[in-house]
Amino acid sequence: MMRPRPALHFATARGWMNDPNGLIQTGGRVHMFYQHNPDGLMLENIAWGHASSADLWTWQDHPLALTPEPGGPDRDGCFSGCAVVADGRPHLLYTGVNGEHQLPCLAQAADEDLIRWTRDPGNPVIASPPPGEEIRAFRDHSAWRDGSAWYQVVGGGLRDRGGAMFLYRSADLRHWQYAGVFAAAADHGLPGAIWECPDVFVLGDTTVVVASVWDGQPPYAMWMTGRVGGQRFVPKAHGRCDDGHRYYAPQSLRMADGRRVAFGWLRECLGELTGQDRTRVGAMSLPRELFLDESGSLRSRPARELDDARRKLLLDRLVRGRGIADLALEARTAEATEISLAPVGRDVTAATLRLAAPDGADVQIRVAAGGVEILEAGRRLTEAIIPPPEPAEPAGQVRVYYDGGILEVFSPPAAAAVICRRDARYDRLEAELTVRPGAAAGRASLTAWSSGRAPAGS
Ligand code: FRU
Repeated sequence: MMRPRPALHFATARGWMNDPNGLIQTGGRVHMFYQHNPDGLMLENIAWGHASSADLWTWQDHPLALTPEPGGPDRDGCFSGCAVVADGRPHLLYTGVNGEHQLPCLAQAADEDLIRWTRDPGNPVIASPPPGEEIRAFRDHSAWRDGSAWYQVVGGGLRDRGGAMFLYRSADLRHWQYAGVFAAAADHGLPGAIWECPDVFVLGDTTVVVASVWDGQPPYAMWMTGRVGGQRFVPKAHGRCDDGHRYYAPQSLRMADGRRVAFGWLRECLGELTGQDRTRVGAMSLPRELFLDESGSLRSRPARELDDARRKLLLDRLVRGRGIADLALEARTAEATEISLAPVGRDVTAATLRLAAPDGADVQIRVAAGGVEILEAGRRLTEAIIPPPEPAEPAGQVRVYYDGGILEVFSPPAAAAVICRRDARYDRLEAELTVRPGAAAGRASLTAWSSGRAPAGS
């Protein structure tokens, strides 16, 4: 028996997976590559898996796009990287692993469906990490074009300045000149000994840089916003991309309609799995639309394509103060459930949703304007601790996706993805609303849908 794949979250059929790579939209489809070990359940022999989708939640599997090439600069692994289009043709910049060396490599699409890739004969396209810097790590790529020049940053770290990104410039993606440290943690009082998986993009006139932070446990994704001056990034604000302990190494793409959509890896490891679950490890987050809020912070909401995944309305009612509904949820089904709680008026300052399990291992989701906090059987699965609602900011709409044990919660301004018990069953949903001091019982509309493709034969 194989572990079922989730309904809305991408996961590989078998084997190990981690970071999303080379996200690109072409021919009406979004292509997602990902770090993949098809023959094992751990991060070893890493190749690039490949899937594509027209709606961001139904994925078609394709053959491996890149596999370690014996004798080549990626003989020990094809690590993370990005996609760019040059001369009308998609290219991949990725990290080739060869023993101790991790160096940038280039490949070019050999067909329109991005199935076959041709490696550049000049690989690695950067022969060594920047000389003269005390490098602690050097891998993963984000690239963009500015006028006639290509730029890429490589992630990593400096021994004395912590997490860092190294900037390079090129006219043709093949020959790169080092242009200095783009940003380093210690220069700005930012966290991280190593910054993996850089993702650099522009929203409006703000430069956004996302780094995946290695700094003790558990690792997490951090956004920074600021400006680029003289080939250096100057961060002004920063924060966590997600309050759960799973979301890591996100990468984003610009959709044809201008939206910026990100996917992150939801970290999982073999040691957490038993029985039939030991057939595949890891998943991607839902597609998240990125935007800057009024304060200039990076926020995310579920991509609107997910609304089309709703199939059957399971629940639709008004809650006053407190409400209980029969709602059966199971980790091991091919169906996902979306739950929405939309406060009416501005009196509701916090809300608690409880997925009640017959065995008592309830999941409690608590949201307020300050963040999302998720507990499972009393154990905290998120970073945020909801402060008492002072000052009494109104809570926004909460959207919860439960899909094969993955729980992903969006509550402005926060998002949190966690993984709950993989054999869980819940039979009741409880909602409880907290209001501003002196206000009457809060009201909210509570809705639930089953979502995902109809199972075959139904
Ligand atoms: C992040 C990461 C990257 C690396 C890849 C290897 O999760 O460690 O830095 O390229 O995974 O699979």
